[in-house]
Amino acid sequence: MPGRRRLRLVIGALSAAVVVCTTLPSSGRAQTAEGGGQALFEKRCGGCHAVDRDKEGPRLGGVYGRPAASAASFGYSEALKKSKITWNAETLDRWLTDPDKLVPGNDMSFHVEKPDERREIIAYLKQTSGK
Ligand code: HEC
Repeated sequence: MPGRRRLRLVIGALSAAVVVCTTLPSSGRAQTAEGGGQALFEKRCGGCHAVDRDKEGPRLGGVYGRPAASAASFGYSEALKKSKITWNAETLDRWLTDPDKLVPGNDMSFHVEKPDERREIIAYLKQTSGK
């Protein structure tokens, strides 16, 4: 019967469309969640920092969990060397909110206004440190 075959074709096409609609958006979301912190890091911090080499600021790969001013290759301010801070989620958030308040007289003249941006950047630094 031709009529019934057409119906089966329509049902087949509809269920294929449902599969496409339910799989596409979720894979899109996963991508932005992974790329967000890195993209923000490159945009906000990349002018002065890289993960694997010193620029105007020290290399930041592995910074999460290490004491402040401990990249031997970089010439830090006396203020940061004397700070006795260990970088973790809390100290990094305070540093990125207002470096001068946390360590008066340090050399980093930059801060991040938005809490959610700080959170994403810190998560990225943590990830690159294997923590
Ligand atoms: C204008 C240049 C500049 C920008 C932009 C900048 N920094 Fe820095 N950063 C520095 C300098 C210079 C130092 C060294 C400060 C010192 O010695 O007192 C530093 C130090 C640091 C330290 C301490 C590292 C250590 O080894 O103790 C962290 C952590 C840090 N920056 C994170 C960031 C993050 C995250 C961003 C982006 C949100 C950022 N910085 C943006 C210049 C910059």
